[in-house]
Amino acid sequence: MFVMLNIFSLVCIHINSALYSTFNAVQNHAPIATAVDIGILRIRLNDQWVTMALMGGFARIGNNKITILVNDAEKSSDIDPEEAKQTLEIAEANLSKAEGKRQLIEANLSLRRARTRVEAINMLSQ
Ligand SMILES: *[C@@H]1O[C@H](CO)[C@@H](O)[C@H](O)[C@H]1NC(C)=O
Ligand SMILES: *[C@@H]1O[C@H](CO)[C@@H](O)[C@H](O)[C@H]1NC(C)=O
Repeated sequence: MFVMLNIFSLVCIHINSALYSTFNAVQNHAPIATAVDIGILRIRLNDQWVTMALMGGFARIGNNKITILVNDAEKSSDIDPEEAKQTLEIAEANLSKAEGKRQLIEANLSLRRARTRVEAINMLSQ
């Protein structure tokens, strides 16, 4: 998935708990590249916050635009709350049953993705 935002529509952006405003990140800085963790992306567009669950990737900030390249992304308003909660429960059960390093790593990742989706929904209702 590829998300490109240009400075004219963007007020500020929240990635990995860091808040980049168009002033500090886009205008004054040389382009920076950063890894995007599994987590919440919040974008303020036309006085409204849009919340997305991002499944890890890469962002480039600068030159009057922010480009985000992620493995997967879901708008919080598109996530089914019941399905997300069920998936979280399954992911927790999977982690408790995981055996061996590889299964543990996969189950942990799956749990982080599931938690992020539930977190994105909770932000929507605030
Ligand atoms: C739970 O484990 C099953 C069996 O390994 C797998 O198919 C499923 O995708 C896992 N679900 C989650 C949410 O991690
Ligand atoms: C998975 O998560 C558990 C609990 O948070 C942690 O103890 C464990 O070290 C993690 N394992 C891996 C392989 O990341």
